[in-house]
Amino acid sequence: MEASKPAVITAVSALEILDSRGRPTVQATVALADGTIAVAGVPSGASTGSREAVERRDGDAARYRGLGVLGAVAAVGGEIASCLISRQWRDLAEIDAALIALDGTPDKSRLGANAIVGVSMACARALALADGRQLWDWLTPAGVSPRLPVPHFNVINGGVHAANPLDFQEFMIAPLGAPSFPEAVRAGAEVYASLRALLAAKGYSTGLGDEGGFAPQITEPEEALDLLVTAIGDAGYVAGRDGVAIALDPASSEFRGQDGRYRVAGQALSSNDMIERYAQITDRFPVWLIEDGLAEDDWDGWTTLTERLGERVTLVGDDIFVTNPAIIADAIARGVGNAALIKVNQIGTVTETLAAIATCRDGGYAQFVSHRSGETTDTFIADLTVGAGCGMLKTGAPARGERVAKYNRLLEIAASHPDLPYGLAP
Ligand code: PGA
Ligand code: ZN
Repeated sequence: MEASKPAVITAVSALEILDSRGRPTVQATVALADGTIAVAGVPSGASTGSREAVERRDGDAARYRGLGVLGAVAAVGGEIASCLISRQWRDLAEIDAALIALDGTPDKSRLGANAIVGVSMACARALALADGRQLWDWLTPAGVSPRLPVPHFNVINGGVHAANPLDFQEFMIAPLGAPSFPEAVRAGAEVYASLRALLAAKGYSTGLGDEGGFAPQITEPEEALDLLVTAIGDAGYVAGRDGVAIALDPASSEFRGQDGRYRVAGQALSSNDMIERYAQITDRFPVWLIEDGLAEDDWDGWTTLTERLGERVTLVGDDIFVTNPAIIADAIARGVGNAALIKVNQIGTVTETLAAIATCRDGGYAQFVSHRSGETTDTFIADLTVGAGCGMLKTGAPARGERVAKYNRLLEIAASHPDLPYGLAP
């Protein structure tokens, strides 16, 4: 992913646009001396880890309830533009290092991670375009084989992404057994349609949560899992790793109390109770992956969880690892989890995101690329997943424009490169 010739940036600007929740976010634009122009839209999370790079918001209650991003936009057009324009840049790593140094804080809070990541993504896109290459191809690190990922469709929403009483945030379907990426998309959409019909037949609302999944008024996670297994069968698929498997993101940092207990469906559970609950769930249902099963500050619980279930379940750290290469390296050394969620805006530059992926790869941890609950129609993560060979991606339901934009970009890549393998990384 080196630019073949030095790049000269001639313009850097940003605009305050809306994300999929109707909140302001940053859109960054970068122009190169050769006439290349590239744009990037910045996503925004709701269940954020406390060690994430910091999104800069204006805090002016008179605009967008304090959520405006005019300060971040001004940073892009001001300090960041002054830093990047008219120099010769060898590669993206050099640009990202300059952005990190310019900000000067460990969490990118001064200029704003939303300002920095937008510019970093737009620069990556510009350099790929200037090189005449597809973004995924340009992003592929030396020695890595690109591949089309198993899409993980979030079809039942709870937690902070929906107004229902379901404490677990995400119930995903993963067509692990699909023969190709287009067939995986078809399976996801067909199960989604079956689930809608099933919910309607049972008298549940088919209203949607933030990521496009249904948000029925159910409380127990096992009830949601029962519905999924039925919907998978109704759509004509086998529920399990040979067909359509299930993945969970309880996002448990959100429901762990000050007393260290997890509040699930009215019960107050210890870490060990939670681990037992997951053990029962994985015995009873075809759940192949659990993300953030325990909270970001429950490292001891995570160690026990990994010892108990790590052999047979993919255990993904999101809030606990925050796409941070140093934290992931620590987790690998301590045997905590066996996979990391990868969110570009959680760490704040494309270069650091690729470093997090490389740290996982070297340490034998799987890499699960992810959107945020607040999204734009930007499709960067689709190309990132393919190029970095991660083999798995979650970007919401097979519905709503900002979610399907990513799946549709992958369908384009699949159609134009039928030689790319589909499925989990070997
Ligand atoms: P967020 O949730 O984008 O709201 O942080 C996504 C996740 O927890 O994986
Ligand atoms: Zn998560």
